Amino acid sequence: MISVRNIYKRFGSQVVLEGVTLDIEPGKTTAVVGPSGVGKSVLLKLIMGIMTPDRGEVYIGGENMTAARTERARNDIRRSLGVLFQSAALFDSLTIYDNIAFSLRERVGLSATKAHSKVLDMAASLSLTPYLQNFPEQVSIGIRKRVGMARALITEPKVLLVDEPNTGLDPLDGQEVYDLINACKNQWGFTGLVISHELPEVFQVSDRVAMILKGAIIAEGTPAELTASQDPAVQQFLNGRTDGPIKIQ
Ligand SMILES: Nc1ncnc2c1ncn2[C@@H]1O[C@H](COP(=O)(O)OP(=O)(O)O)[C@@H](O)[C@H]1O
Ligand SMILES: [Mg+2]
Repeated sequence: MISVRNIYKRFGSQVVLEGVTLDIEPGKTTAVVGPSGVGKSVLLKLIMGIMTPDRGEVYIGGENMTAARTERARNDIRRSLGVLFQSAALFDSLTIYDNIAFSLRERVGLSATKAHSKVLDMAASLSLTPYLQNFPEQVSIGIRKRVGMARALITEPKVLLVDEPNTGLDPLDGQEVYDLINACKNQWGFTGLVISHELPEVFQVSDRVAMILKGAIIAEGTPAELTASQDPAVQQFLNGRTDGPIKIQ
C-alpha cells in the first residue's frame, strides 16, 4: 500500500535518514518506533509529500509521490491518506461540526446535503453528536482526539497515518486513543501507519513494527518478534533502560 524505497534525508550536515526502505502492507497497521529525534516525523512528512527526500522514493498505492511535481498532483495522491496529528490539531475557531466537515468541503462534486449527512453519520459513529456545536476548547482532550479521528476518516481514506497518538495525554486518555484506533480499524478497515516512541503500548494497535535508529531500520517484525529480538538496541529501547547502545539525549 505504501512503499518507502531507499530514502535519504539530511538537514545541512545533520543526516537524519540514511537508506530507509519500508513496505506497509494493506489492511495491516505498522508502527514505526524509535527514540525521540530519530526521524519518525520526518519519515511521515516524506510519505505525505510535504517534505522531499534527497534520494529515494515514496509510493502510495502504486503512485510515485516523490515524482509528483505539482501540489495538485501531490494532492491527488494524498486523497488516499487520512492523518491524525500529534495534538489532534483542530481549528479552534471552528465548531466541532465544521472541524469534521472541513476536508469534505474541499471535495468537488459532493452536495451540501450529502456532506451534512456524512458528518452526522461520522459524529454518531464516534459518539460526538452531543458536541457538534461546541468549540474544541470546550471539550475534553479525549473528545478532541475523537474529533481529530472523525476529521481524518470523513474522506474515507485507504490509509490512516497517526503521529504519536498520545503525546500530552495522561495514561487513561492515552489508552482511550489506542482503543479508538482499534475500534475505527474494525469499523473502517484501513491500512494504518502509527509513529510512536511509546513501547510496548503501541504494540496493541500494531500488526507489524519497524524500529528506526541512526538513520536506518534496525529491526522489523511482529510485536512478538521484536520483543524476542536479541538486538541490544531493541532490548534497551523496549525496556526503557538508559545504558546500552542508544545514547539518551
Ligand atoms: N524542517 C527541519 N529542518 C531542520 N531539521 C529538522 C527539520 N525537521 C526535522 N529536523 C530534525 O530532524 C531530526 C528528526 O526529527 P523528527 O523526525 O521530528 O524526530 P522524531 O523521531 O522524534 O519524530 C531532529 O533532529 C530534528 O531537529
Ligand atoms: Mg515526532
